Amino acid sequence: MMRLVGKVFFSCLAVLLVGMCFSVFGANPPKLGEKELVIKRGVTPEAAKCIKCHSKKTPGIVDSWKLSKMAHASVTCYDCHVVEKSSPMASQCDGIRGTNIYISPMVSSKTCSRCHPQEVEQFLKSGHARLASRPVVDASKAGGKLIKLMYYLEGAEFIGNKKGSPSSMASRAQGCQMCHGGKVELGPDHKPINNTWPGGVGTIYPDGSIGTCTVCHTRHQFSVAEARKPEACASCHLGPDHPDIEIYLESKHGQIYQAHGDEWQWDSAPETWQPGDYTAPTCATCHMSGIGDLSTTHNVNERLKWDLMHKKSVIRSGERGDGEKGAKLMRQVCLNCHGSTQIAKEEKGLDDAVALYNFYWDGAVKMKKELAAKGLLKKDAWSDGFQELMYYLWHHAGRRARQGAAMNGPDYAHWHGFFQMFQIYKDMQNIYNWRIKHNKIEELSTVMMTGPI
Ligand code: HEC
Ligand code: HEC
Ligand code: HEC
Ligand code: HEC
Ligand code: HEC
Ligand code: HEC
Ligand code: HEC
Ligand code: HEC
Repeated sequence: MMRLVGKVFFSCLAVLLVGMCFSVFGANPPKLGEKELVIKRGVTPEAAKCIKCHSKKTPGIVDSWKLSKMAHASVTCYDCHVVEKSSPMASQCDGIRGTNIYISPMVSSKTCSRCHPQEVEQFLKSGHARLASRPVVDASKAGGKLIKLMYYLEGAEFIGNKKGSPSSMASRAQGCQMCHGGKVELGPDHKPINNTWPGGVGTIYPDGSIGTCTVCHTRHQFSVAEARKPEACASCHLGPDHPDIEIYLESKHGQIYQAHGDEWQWDSAPETWQPGDYTAPTCATCHMSGIGDLSTTHNVNERLKWDLMHKKSVIRSGERGDGEKGAKLMRQVCLNCHGSTQIAKEEKGLDDAVALYNFYWDGAVKMKKELAAKGLLKKDAWSDGFQELMYYLWHHAGRRARQGAAMNGPDYAHWHGFFQMFQIYKDMQNIYNWRIKHNKIEELSTVMMTGPI
């Protein structure tokens, strides 16, 4: 309850602040009872100009904005897009050229933090911020292997595509960067170049700020209801290596969502969205939303115990969160709708699945070390059957098994997961045995190009 009061207070404060910003620009204070003035309250002539012209030039944007809660609260284009002339991102659109107003099409979490400091602070601590763009921008990450993967291999430099040419960067720009985010590069006119903007959740902006809030509540509606639906996460959390949406849709929770989601109440105020508004959890319910005594968090790492994405699963610590605490918080989510007996089974089930995955992984590492010591690994891992299979063991089948076990997706835990893991492992064993016996590496990679799916 206290949280709710705090929230309402904060919202009022935000509205008040908006009002105050505008009054600086000299808007007339609304007169009581004058409906027309009340509607226009707080919109300065400058802000009104943006809206008026853009409703003709980019009607789609204004139409979406009109439906947003922020439009109701008189938060306009001006509040989010106008920047100081000194900003590295400052430019002028056709409508304001020659005036002393500067804008930017780039809007990072820093702009939102003016009015939503708490959400941004939590977000910045999560894996969705700095950690997300790190694999894409940091050349030292994984010993430079990811940069080599993005340009040299996927960008076809290895078959002669010119190093650094736009096409050699296309895979990264249209792939990795659209989910993870990259670093925005600017041309002399302060506009983004080299296909570096727009980008994914951890985008690093030219002023050093981090994060694109619109990945879950898309512009310009910025809808909380939208972010609560599993589709908001599905644009990134899918596919062979982290099929979270597929797992969800096959889970009992997903079954209920698909059968009854149309009847659910999606737009309750923050922290008042509770069981009853819905009858099964979505991704947001478990990972972010306020439920029972738990408050909403924009730090998706907060309620996690295990690291289920990296090569060896360990209990989270340091920059990945606090796993012991995370387990307790996640349990609190479940206990809103389940008894402790079933939840204890689910927790133990995940711990055991993690142990099984780690058992396979440790065995693979042991074989690899022995092959390395004997000089029986190719330098190029991507044309070495053993190393290719080891990648799929971890990155595809192994993640599917672990995440399927975590989120009640038995088909992913089993058929797409552990069932494939033992097969991959046996093939690795055969290659290992052959190399040890013959003391040489077989001539050709035996692994299919796309690998086990
Ligand atoms: C609450 C803040 C907010 C408001 C209000 C807002 N925008 Fe945006 N706008 C954004 C964000 C965030 C992005 C995405 C920026 C990014 O990815 O760096 C964006 C992107 C854009 C873009 C570039 C993307 C594209 O589709 O070409 C345009 C143009 C734009 N907004 C125009 C407007 C106009 C016109 C208005 C007023 C009707 C407006 N915006 C109101 C936050 C806002
Ligand atoms: C008289 C018409 C007019 C007015 C007034 C106007 N704009 Fe624009 N704006 C445009 C047009 C046309 C474009 C698209 C062409 C371009 O990108 O320059 C545009 C583009 C933009 C973009 C995208 C720029 C990009 O690089 O993609 C943003 C953001 C934007 N305007 C924000 C604003 C804001 C904020 C205001 C008010 C301070 C405003 N505009 C006032 C006509 C106008
Ligand atoms: C000038 C202040 C201001 C700025 C800047 C601002 N907001 Fe808001 N925002 C508000 C106000 C006021 C509300 C409505 C009151 C409330 O529900 O808290 C709101 C509501 C929201 C909501 C809830 C909408 C719903 O459906 O309930 C979201 C999501 C949101 N803002 C996201 C953003 C994002 C993302 C940015 C940055 C791109 C941003 N805001 C920038 C003031 C602002
Ligand atoms: C624009 C893409 C995108 C969207 C949309 C998205 N995520 Fe993520 N998410 C990522 C990326 C990329 C990572 C990996 C971050 C890293 O490199 O550590 C991630 C990581 C995570 C993690 C693990 C945290 C960690 O890094 O250790 C959780 C949990 C998560 N996301 C939940 C969600 C939920 C829930 C939603 C929807 C409400 C969502 N995500 C929407 C891209 C996205
Ligand atoms: C469809 C969206 C998407 C694309 C495209 C994508 N990733 Fe990811 N990536 C994710 C998500 C989501 C996670 C979190 C996985 C999890 O929790 O299991 C992730 C996790 C990772 C991780 C582990 C987390 C970390 O920070 O150590 C790395 C490394 C990574 N991705 C690198 C890349 C690279 C490099 C590319 C391009 C060659 C790429 N990804 C393409 C969505 C994507
Ligand atoms: C991974 C998806 C995701 C990202 C990224 C995200 N949000 Fe949210 N946001 C949500 C969800 C889900 C809710 C609804 C939580 C609930 O059920 O109350 C929400 C709610 C909100 C609200 C309503 C008040 C509240 O705290 O519940 C605001 C304001 C908001 N977000 C702002 C932001 C800002 C600012 C950013 C960028 C730093 C951002 N969001 C990034 C998913 C996201
Ligand atoms: C019933 C609650 C629940 C729902 C619904 C749910 N998750 Fe999860 N999720 C979990 C649990 C529990 C874990 C494992 C927690 C741990 O580490 O112990 C997990 C793990 C994850 C991870 C793995 C992070 C890592 O370590 O690599 C990601 C990513 C994720 N969830 C994203 C999603 C997305 C996206 C959706 C919706 C499509 C979703 N989750 C739906 C409960 C849920
Ligand atoms: C909003 C309520 C709600 C929350 C929160 C919730 N669940 Fe559920 N869960 C349900 C409902 C309803 C079912 C369907 C029961 C049935 O199969 O009849 C279900 C089914 C399940 C099932 C399938 C069991 C079976 O009998 O097939 C598992 C496993 C499960 N939940 C685990 C979890 C875990 C773990 C959490 C917390 C991370 C959680 N749930 C959170 C409502 C919830």
